[in-house]
Amino acid sequence: MGGEGITEVIRRRRTVKPKEFSDQAISQEVIDEILENANWAPTHGLTEPWRFSVFTGEARYELAEFLAATYQAVTTDETFRQNKYEGMKRNATLAPVVIVIGMKRQPSGKISELDEIQAVACAVQNMHLTATAHGIGGFWSSNAAATSDQMRDYIGLSGDDRALGLFYLGYPSGDWPKGKRQPISDKVRWVEAKSGT
Ligand SMILES: Cc1cc2nc3c(=O)[nH]c(=O)nc-3n(C[C@H](O)[C@H](O)[C@H](O)COP(=O)(O)O)c2cc1C
Repeated sequence: MGGEGITEVIRRRRTVKPKEFSDQAISQEVIDEILENANWAPTHGLTEPWRFSVFTGEARYELAEFLAATYQAVTTDETFRQNKYEGMKRNATLAPVVIVIGMKRQPSGKISELDEIQAVACAVQNMHLTATAHGIGGFWSSNAAATSDQMRDYIGLSGDDRALGLFYLGYPSGDWPKGKRQPISDKVRWVEAKSGT
């Protein structure tokens, strides 16, 4: 198996926000593939903690209302931002598909919360890469409403479970965005055996 295909998809993957989406629908077949690939993420103890609530069609408007009301409830006069509130009302209606990302804990709690969150993040990356391969952009939004206990309950989870944000999907209306990163060499330490040991 050559590595060129995966490298191209990984580097091409971009965050594309709902206001940059066209109104092109995403086929059920592609949505199914995105979700199925999420399910193949690594998972400590095979707990498969990812849970997804997929909002399409009219349901997106209900989600938008819920997000805006929840944002109001979880912010104070100091933290409330009008533009965020407006964005929350608008974004879910601009994306053909919105996935609320959930993390379900095991009752035993044997696998740590950190590991379960990391497994869900891997699942989201699988979704984002699959979307990329189909020319679809994604946007993981972890705003206060999307990660609130209210959102956890809204998607049918409870207790120590968590809502980890929203994942918006859509075809970009314009050019595919360019990414930027600082060099990997800034983030890597090479540790080699000392001579003679
Ligand atoms: C866990 C997570 C949460 C994120 N939440 C937000 C967010 O709330 N708002 C936002 O503008 N971008 C959010 N992003 C997306 C980043 O802004 C984005 O990945 C970054 O700008 C790099 O762009 P790229 O994804 O195209 O490489 C989030 C990304 C991750 C991994």
